[in-house]
Amino acid sequence: MSRPLVVDIHTHMYPPSYMAMLRARKEVPYIYDPENGPPRLIILSSDDNPAIPLHQRGRPIDTSYSDIDVKLSFMRQHGIDCSVLSLANPWLDFIHGKEAITWAQRINDDLESTCAVNNKDEDRDRNESRPLDEKQSLFAFGVLPTRADPNDIVIEIKRLGNLPHMRGAILGTTGLGNGLDDRAMDPVWHALEETEQLVFLHPHYGLPDEAFGGKSKIAQYGHVLPLALGFPLETTIAVTRMLLGGVFDRFPRLRVLLAHSGGTLPFLAGRIESCIIHERGFMDNGGPVRGPHRSIWNVLKTNIYLDSVVYGAAGLQAAIEAGGGVDRLMFGTDHPFFPPLSKDEEKWPSVMTNYKAISDSCGDDAPTAASILGGNAIRILKLRLAGRSPRCQE
Ligand code: URA
Ligand code: ZN
Repeated sequence: MSRPLVVDIHTHMYPPSYMAMLRARKEVPYIYDPENGPPRLIILSSDDNPAIPLHQRGRPIDTSYSDIDVKLSFMRQHGIDCSVLSLANPWLDFIHGKEAITWAQRINDDLESTCAVNNKDEDRDRNESRPLDEKQSLFAFGVLPTRADPNDIVIEIKRLGNLPHMRGAILGTTGLGNGLDDRAMDPVWHALEETEQLVFLHPHYGLPDEAFGGKSKIAQYGHVLPLALGFPLETTIAVTRMLLGGVFDRFPRLRVLLAHSGGTLPFLAGRIESCIIHERGFMDNGGPVRGPHRSIWNVLKTNIYLDSVVYGAAGLQAAIEAGGGVDRLMFGTDHPFFPPLSKDEEKWPSVMTNYKAISDSCGDDAPTAASILGGNAIRILKLRLAGRSPRCQE
């Protein structure tokens, strides 16, 4: 039997222009180039601790963040046939006004042309004597100028909808600056819904340092608390605010892909629903506040998609259960984050852990594993993989 197609829908890049911009900055987010040793990426506010020497702050950054050939080679090493690229955090959340629009256009055009050139480049594959059925395809989620005028954000969303390799847009949890339940987001949701583009909701800000015991504890335990707990809770809070703010009532066809299997949403959905049902402040329960009309379970089965970046079968099972089956779950790697600690490892343990969680969850059920690995993404994102017959993509 042929192996299933693998599509990675959670994989990031910083185009070289964005890297240069980070290098020119001295405050978060920025890249620091020490005289000795690899450059450092300082993007989380908790990274920028004056008690830590600059050359140890943040994390090392190498060409895997910006070089598409390194991405393609990573894909080959891990059996990935297609990647849907997205700009990594913190996107354009720190750039305002017209400058943000210029950056969004530049980055989106750059991603579009990277995908177009790659997907067409069959000559290069032949020269490298790689069979066409091993050809790798690229698509992308665009970036939005979130701190520009909402009308300009809408214009960029509509432009993205007409770029052949774009499949939606990545978005942070602050939205335009005030969270995703902010009514000012409505034109943005409307444009995304109208153009049938997926929103890839991704964390960046985590929780306040105090939630983890302050900066000294974060320094002591490194990225564990902000990344393992801050990120997933941030996503959970953001999407719960969307629900509470009635976003899914007003935009019933909006499609949102939640990073890291929805943070903790699949696990907490029952508790969230129960708290809503018992909230006396909501109009449905006789109170003064509008509150959500649709049930969280209905939203999970209609509007929400989840990636499989959860590193364990228990989390994956919760994602499958919450989504009413495997149809809304899509494989991801979070490359280039979580690289191996040693350069000698050819396969990334972070990626192999996610592969294993899928096979542990699916057991002998190969069709189910194949849907999570690639079939669902091909269907949901309408991907046409280069060099593959339409039949093997059904
Ligand atoms: N760390 C980040 O800052 N971003 C990711 O996407 C993953 C890990
Ligand atoms: Zn990510």
